[in-house]
Amino acid sequence: MKIFLDTANVEEIREAASWGIVDGVTTNPSLVAREKRDFNEVVQEICSIVDGPISAEVISLEAEKMILEAREVAEIHPNVVVKIPMTVDGLKAVSVVSKEGIKTNVTLVFSANQALLAAKAGATYVSPFLGRLDDIGTEGMNLVRDIVDIFDIHGYDTEVIAASIRNPMHVTDAALAGAHISTIPFGVLKQMTKHPLTDIGIEKFMQDWEGAFGK
Ligand code: E4P
Repeated sequence: MKIFLDTANVEEIREAASWGIVDGVTTNPSLVAREKRDFNEVVQEICSIVDGPISAEVISLEAEKMILEAREVAEIHPNVVVKIPMTVDGLKAVSVVSKEGIKTNVTLVFSANQALLAAKAGATYVSPFLGRLDDIGTEGMNLVRDIVDIFDIHGYDTEVIAASIRNPMHVTDAALAGAHISTIPFGVLKQMTKHPLTDIGIEKFMQDWEGAFGK
């Protein structure tokens, strides 16, 4: 499973990239707004840090405008994947721009049927938001599993990005569910590195070493 970082913060991206585990980055309008920086400039900088798919989202909601904006966003860098919300207009836009070779990530997917339609329209990626489903008392991981199964059964190339990840168990479960990618906030990525027995083990090794050989 590939790991994308779910942030528009370049310090976080730079740090995580230095660990050698980042395959790509996803942003959304809320994440970019948090940075209070020019959109094109942020996307360009992210592309200069990570050599992989970088999702950047359109703001337009009507198909014609989405198509124009998607073309502009795709021009920022060859690695840019245009994120388009899962609406009828979004599907129309995906079907047009995907034929032009523009890579797309259909976002805000909350049902298997939405994912199926996005794949049929030509989406490169679909992003089921599992954490937001968990928030309303539904098992978000079941959706990830269903979409992976449907794409496998019918041979769609569209990749599944487990999104709206809230904790390390989401990542493990998404990997077991067969998600091609998990897009992970930096805080969760840091939690994934931790285990108390690792810290206890290091402390014991150091104590034993210093007991025998000194500092
Ligand atoms: C995915 O592409 C989205 O940016 C993200 O995962 C949304 O997560 P949230 O539900 O925590 O805002």
